[in-house]
Amino acid sequence: MSKIGIFGAGWVGLVTGACFAELGHTVVIRDVATERIEPLQQGDLPFYEPELADVVERNRHRLTFTLDPAEAAGDAEFLYVCVGTPSTYSGDANLSYVWSVLDDLPELDGRPVLVMKSTVPVGTGEKVRSALDARGLEHIGYASNPEFLSEGTAIRDFMHPDRIVIGAFEPADGDRVEELHESLEAPIVRSDVGSAEMIKLAANAFLMTRISFINEIANVCELVGADVQEVARGVGLDHRLGPHFLRAGIGYGGSCFPKDASALKQLASNSGYHFQLLSAVIEVNELQKRRVVAKLVKHLGKLRGKRVALLGLAFKPNTDDMREAPSIVLASRLLAEGAEVRGWDPVAEPGELLKGVEISGTVAEAVKDADAAVIVTEWDELRALASPEIRNSMRTPLIVDGRNVLDPNAVRKAGFAYEGIGRASSPLVDFPRPQSPSTGSSE
Ligand SMILES: NC(=O)c1ccc[n+]([C@@H]2O[C@H](COP(=O)([O-])OP(=O)(O)OC[C@H]3O[C@@H](n4cnc5c(N)ncnc54)[C@H](O)[C@@H]3O)[C@@H](O)[C@H]2O)c1
Repeated sequence: MSKIGIFGAGWVGLVTGACFAELGHTVVIRDVATERIEPLQQGDLPFYEPELADVVERNRHRLTFTLDPAEAAGDAEFLYVCVGTPSTYSGDANLSYVWSVLDDLPELDGRPVLVMKSTVPVGTGEKVRSALDARGLEHIGYASNPEFLSEGTAIRDFMHPDRIVIGAFEPADGDRVEELHESLEAPIVRSDVGSAEMIKLAANAFLMTRISFINEIANVCELVGADVQEVARGVGLDHRLGPHFLRAGIGYGGSCFPKDASALKQLASNSGYHFQLLSAVIEVNELQKRRVVAKLVKHLGKLRGKRVALLGLAFKPNTDDMREAPSIVLASRLLAEGAEVRGWDPVAEPGELLKGVEISGTVAEAVKDADAAVIVTEWDELRALASPEIRNSMRTPLIVDGRNVLDPNAVRKAGFAYEGIGRASSPLVDFPRPQSPSTGSSE
């Protein structure tokens, strides 16, 4: 069993550290942010991720959390870099946190391997290798070991990965990283460092391409009278294509897809190549979020003074991560149109990100007297949205199902107007509010 130092206590660092501890390794996780380390030292998690609390709790005796880089790096056989790589203003990946890890390294003996788990542009490994050499740290090995976990299923994804990608300059360093994972059952992909870096970027770009592709098919379905759910099922059963990432909706968001698409696009541009397909994927996704506003206008007319409930605020279910969540774009567009916006999410706390949005504690509170309820994130709680209680409490019983989670026929039968993505919508109707026993009034 090894001692592993992890730099970064975010989704990737904390999950990687906790899971390596579960595999029996001794792990020290270092972050620069006290708001990440202090809760961990006190036995709490700094963010929501299913199953993570149990894994951390079970392995407390093998897990240490610290602000001190020397505590994480000292005696470590592996130094995992799990820091953020957000976009710069130019759209390139910002590698300043990666460099800060190198700056923080204490003097090290032996041959620890610096393992890059953060998503970085192709060529980063070469640059880090040169920087280590220039600092007299030739004895530190280097490997790229990109991470493919998804928030919401991160523990399962680490423990049961589709593959483990390892690119190393020295095969022996790659062998050591491979051994670390020997109790996991997964194909190992060994490659050069640049190819390992590209595998991560290409995989994410392809997933986004599938999302934007099915969203465009959905938009055409709406115009020609087809149902994208049936289309996706029929397409996805083709063994050459498969069913994954063919769910039409209001577009992707999150901490990875948007910035990784931009980083790959700029990586190509910087090398003199115009990655047209990826540019289109990004543009389709931007437009897709805004189409919800047009759907609301179609039913409600001008949105000034209309009350819209955004249901689900995190960028996807089972996380409280709000980074690049479609709800942010939607809320700001609706507020700009003069709508009154309420928001509900079971775990996310958007704070300043949704300035001007009134946050409700329950779905019922969010939709009360609303002119429309928009499903933005497909939390399970929303599958029962089309109930008589909800209908009676809304000013206009209109549901815009931005994730196609509801059965349109059942929703219409329950007395709502329904708008999905890429499926037939209800005809425009008047919405008289039925006599409500609780208020005794109707509108
Ligand atoms: N979140 C995901 O679903 C996911 C999946 C696959 C890959 N990735 C990639 O993994 C990387 C990390 O993602 P994340 O979501 O965990 O990020 P995050 O922002 O949640 O966490 C990064 C952490 O690194 C810390 N940090 C910055 N400088 C540091 C330093 N010098 N030493 C120690 N800690 C430092 C930050 O304070 C922060 O807590 C990114 O490159 C991301 O693209 C993320």
